[in-house]
Amino acid sequence: MVSHMNSLYLDYQSTTPVLEEVQESMIPFLSEIFGNPSSKEHLYGDEASEARDTFQLECAKLLGISPSELFFTSGATESSNLALFGLLSENSQTNKRIILLSPFEHACVQAPLQELERRGKVELKYLPHTHGKHETEEILSLISKDTYAVVLMAVNNELGTIHTDSKLYEELHKREVLLISDYSQAPGKIPLRADSSDNLPADIAFFSAHKMYGPKGVGALYISEKLLSSLKPLFYGGGQQEGIRPGTIPLHLVAGFTTALSLSSKNINSWTSHVQSLQNLFLDTLKEKNISFTLNGPLLKTRIPHNLNIRFHGIPSDVLIAQLPMLAFSTGSACSSSATSRSHVLQSLKLSEEEIDESLRIGLSHLISETDLKQSLALICETVIPMQSELAIAHNVCCF
Ligand SMILES: Cc1ncc(COP(=O)(O)O)c(C=O)c1O
Repeated sequence: MVSHMNSLYLDYQSTTPVLEEVQESMIPFLSEIFGNPSSKEHLYGDEASEARDTFQLECAKLLGISPSELFFTSGATESSNLALFGLLSENSQTNKRIILLSPFEHACVQAPLQELERRGKVELKYLPHTHGKHETEEILSLISKDTYAVVLMAVNNELGTIHTDSKLYEELHKREVLLISDYSQAPGKIPLRADSSDNLPADIAFFSAHKMYGPKGVGALYISEKLLSSLKPLFYGGGQQEGIRPGTIPLHLVAGFTTALSLSSKNINSWTSHVQSLQNLFLDTLKEKNISFTLNGPLLKTRIPHNLNIRFHGIPSDVLIAQLPMLAFSTGSACSSSATSRSHVLQSLKLSEEEIDESLRIGLSHLISETDLKQSLALICETVIPMQSELAIAHNVCCF
């Protein structure tokens, strides 16, 4: 159980704790292996440079890409800004300006694209969807000769919707349209590629260690070989990482990133099946107790089981959060929760303001035991049942 002052953590899409194995893998790089990988004149530098190459190779292997296509960054936000501004800020392909994107993309992808549109470099068009799910055929039907890229995150951080389809990638490839995919929420939850001989099905992908039980402040950008020559750096400096992302590599963080990615891939089946049983327990209990709720988002089978975006009818989520200080869950994306605006994801689902204000995000993890979840459920039921009966809410469950 991950708890702080007796509060059970249920916000694993916001961030995750650093697993012990990950921490251990980082320690040598904080002490004995402290050399600068760019110092070529001595053994300290050689040792660090060797370690960097090993980490890069291991991550590339896990993703089915070439090491030269992988750059370590400070996180998914930097990765997306590097790729989008790096490719598009000098976009001179006047006819290939259209970007088809999901309205559910994270702010770290939408904001740079909106800035590029403001500068006249691209034209954004939003993809249609059903309850947050985009269909491959529909996306393909919108491609024109002016389409530069489709931007579609692998796993949505608020709804859990999965969008990884090798057919989409192959069809876009044939049409010379790029697929740009935010993979921050994917490792350890969905297989990153169809099988070990396949590539990651995207031309550009963003990763973040702190979403996969690794440390904060490190992530990665995958960018297909064919795009490297057109990619301009965001920063200029000492030429590290081929000058694409200069600056001394923080080897302890890169070690943590690599171990986190490796553990996510090794344990995906056991972690996911545990989380699936937690999701079943959660939904079955609410139904048994006649709680009236809606699960926001698409069909359960089209999403990861780790994410429950749920609306308890009649109860504003801030009231529920205030009543349940022993549970740590959120009303939406941590990255936008300081903004006064409502979740753009729930707005894009066309929920009313009242419905959005009643919605909560519960993030499940393999670190939560069944006993802990049962205790949390008991607290939720004890709070919600009397509130809904006082409001005379008609019993109604909406869960696809
Ligand atoms: C889907 C998604 N993309 C990107 C990010 C940003 O990641 P980072 O904190 O590594 O910049 C987040 C974090 O909330 C996320 O959930």
